[in-house]
Amino acid sequence: MFKHDPTSTFHHQNELQSDELLAVIFKYMEKITAETDLDKLLMILADLGKNLVLADRCTVWLHNPESNQLWTIVAHGIDPVMVPEKSGFIGHSFSTGESIIVKDAYKDDRFNKTIDLSTGYLTKSVLCIPFRNSEGIVIGAFQAINKMTVNEIFSERDREILTLAASYSGKTLESSILRNELIETQREMIETMGEIGESRSQETGNHVKRVAEYSFTLAKLAGLTDSQAHLLKLASPMHDIGKVAIPDTILLKPGPLTKTEFELMKTHTTIGYNVFKHSNRELLRMAAIIAHEHHEKWNGTGYPIGLKENEIHIFGRITAIADVFDALTSERVYKKAWSIEEVISFLLEQRGKHFDPFLIDLFLLHIDTFIDIRYKYAADRIGD
Ligand code: C2E
Ligand code: SIN
Ligand code: SIN
Ligand code: SIN
Ligand code: FE
Ligand code: FE
Repeated sequence: MFKHDPTSTFHHQNELQSDELLAVIFKYMEKITAETDLDKLLMILADLGKNLVLADRCTVWLHNPESNQLWTIVAHGIDPVMVPEKSGFIGHSFSTGESIIVKDAYKDDRFNKTIDLSTGYLTKSVLCIPFRNSEGIVIGAFQAINKMTVNEIFSERDREILTLAASYSGKTLESSILRNELIETQREMIETMGEIGESRSQETGNHVKRVAEYSFTLAKLAGLTDSQAHLLKLASPMHDIGKVAIPDTILLKPGPLTKTEFELMKTHTTIGYNVFKHSNRELLRMAAIIAHEHHEKWNGTGYPIGLKENEIHIFGRITAIADVFDALTSERVYKKAWSIEEVISFLLEQRGKHFDPFLIDLFLLHIDTFIDIRYKYAADRIGD
């Protein structure tokens, strides 16, 4: 196999002066503190390590206790790379908690050649530094490969510098992992709560999942950021959570509601709002707003307040379209499903009345995408 020796094809670099080191650290601190995505954080820290010790490559490995593996992300959008937790230099460093400097990997029997064999890369010098969480437990390790200076060997100074970076990284990664777990827990909690509302009102299966998907898609089309669109996707399934408090006699009534019954039904918006409004979590505060405002109308004739136009939060305006589109294309205890043609002409007719005209234009322009979502998440328990 072709072996590529990076140190022969790159210009040798000079060691960084301390002011240059500080500049590198400063530049990366800004990126790191702004990053909430664990995969991206791993890549930024790896890039920091590479720049600090002038390595050709650097990876940051994290331990997965469930699979007894170390894993890393080497490029955005590519699946994690995994190695057994005791394999190679990185595994040695992780399991002993000791940093190691290797001059020539091929002369060291701790070396795991599999990555070189599969990539054609030629590893020579290696520096591994384990890092710990706030309880002192080793949770991963930095691995720098191939020193780019003339002597091609990592020094004691490199060990010190990368150890400093690693001690900082351990805590940063720990909080990112905890935050990811928290988000995952929240997501499950939200889905469960959304489904409670769904099952109580016997709405056709997957209503809340579809509302989440339509809302996310429309948010992206409307130019919201990825993080805002994701927030909406997580919060919109809770729009009808207040229906949990509406009596079955109304919720499950096969025919039209009386005036009094509909007045009571309308309170599902304020009930939902009251459940979440005091939360400190952005996600739940957004859920409160969506529960409150998803029946407001662009022309001010909606409920419970009668807000109009941009007084209605963008998340409320988006969820309103998602909710009605899904209600109309689905069967309810009180109505049959409408045909797509009927739904489209209704949405168009309500442009600027019930719905934000700008959002309706986007929705109708991309109607095929929304129809696809409708059928992709079709009810699996239709006819229950
Ligand atoms: P939902 O079933 O999730 O419907 C959400 C929204 O979709 C409705 O909000 C309305 O804007 C739209 N929508 C649904 N079906 C129709 C329809 O046949 N024609 C038109 N023009 N729009 C429709 P809305 O009206 O504020 O109702 C809120 C909730 O009140 C509904 O949520 C449903 O749970 C209940 N509800 C409304 N009408 C009736 C009814 O006649 N009988 C029963 N049993 N419940 C009803
Ligand atoms: C793994 O790949 O083993 C874990 C991935 C992750 O937690 O993001
Ligand atoms: C290892 O032994 O840890 C693997 C080194 C490499 O990635 O080339
Ligand atoms: C429904 O969810 O009410 C209908 C399912 C389908 O469209 O196939
Ligand atoms: Fe509602
Ligand atoms: Fe709904």
